[in-house]
Amino acid sequence: MEIKRAAEIIRNGGVVAFPTETVYGLGANALDAQAVAKIFELKERPSFDPLIVHLAAPAQIFDYIVNSQCMLPLQQTYIQWLTEKFWPGPLTIVLPKNTRIPDIVTAGLPTVALRMPDNPVALELIRLSGCPLAAPSANKFGCLSPTTAEHVRKQLPELECVLDGGAARVGIESTVVSLQEDGFTILRQGAITRTDLEKILPVSGRAVSGLPSPGLLKSHYSPAKPLYFPGQKEVDKARAGLISLRGENTAGYKLTATLSPSGDLREAAANLFGALHKMEDAEIDCIVAEPVPETGIGLAIMDRLRKAAYRWKTP
Ligand code: TXA
Ligand code: MG
Repeated sequence: MEIKRAAEIIRNGGVVAFPTETVYGLGANALDAQAVAKIFELKERPSFDPLIVHLAAPAQIFDYIVNSQCMLPLQQTYIQWLTEKFWPGPLTIVLPKNTRIPDIVTAGLPTVALRMPDNPVALELIRLSGCPLAAPSANKFGCLSPTTAEHVRKQLPELECVLDGGAARVGIESTVVSLQEDGFTILRQGAITRTDLEKILPVSGRAVSGLPSPGLLKSHYSPAKPLYFPGQKEVDKARAGLISLRGENTAGYKLTATLSPSGDLREAAANLFGALHKMEDAEIDCIVAEPVPETGIGLAIMDRLRKAAYRWKTP
């Protein structure tokens, strides 16, 4: 579907799925509480889970956060450093919100999560819509995130408009950071790592105010089948699928998915949700996932796998 037509749907208070560099989003006008309510309905998302607001330019941040005069100069400097270095890109920044952002977007929190996606279709959609887009990942709550338009259609077949931008380049949801006067706190791991962030600003010594980020839920992003780490449970390999980094130790499994033959963790991240969707759709009883090295984006991969496995842990 054309971007122009999708923007028209957004302007009329509707909901549209669109590609970003991380995962596909389910967007509506972030300034229209009724439009945003439709996202929660479609996703079957609990109202305590706040949404990310997507912008088309860094300067738009200041339209939606507390008056810059109330802000400490250091916090403003940090915003500038972060956006110069990482926007457009897979970094979401949580800041105190102003009244233009309806409470439904932030689930009543005094803060709003903002991000400028690095995808030409997404940016064009935001520009043509003439408003920021509130958008969670375009999946049912708690289920696998979509990295292709096909994945979106699988979980949300009732959706009228799905813009197709091909497979997502990064493949894992954005890093979410809370920005305070003295530095940052990571609320969700992603392609931009703590080491990347520490190069330009300090780690905050303060606790994040309000509720902890639902991104910190222990169980999330689950496939519709049990997922185990090797050795966690005895499985019948002939009825199981194996997800591994380099495609090793595959003997006996009914189905296998290799994340990156060369062991490149960025490539692995880009292939992770595709592999999980493939396993979810296959005729197998369970999924075994080999751990990956926990360096760089490997931390975010393991975070998603642990959340997927958590439901199936025996106490
Ligand atoms: O890569 C992404 O971030 C994708 C694409 C579509 O942009 N979006 C995404 O949205 O993953 P969602 O709704 O699935 O995840 C948003 C995360 C959640 O973990 C939520 O708890 C956190 O951001 N979040 C949103 N607003 C927040 C706030 N005010 N304070 C703390 N955490 C917040
Ligand atoms: Mg999500």
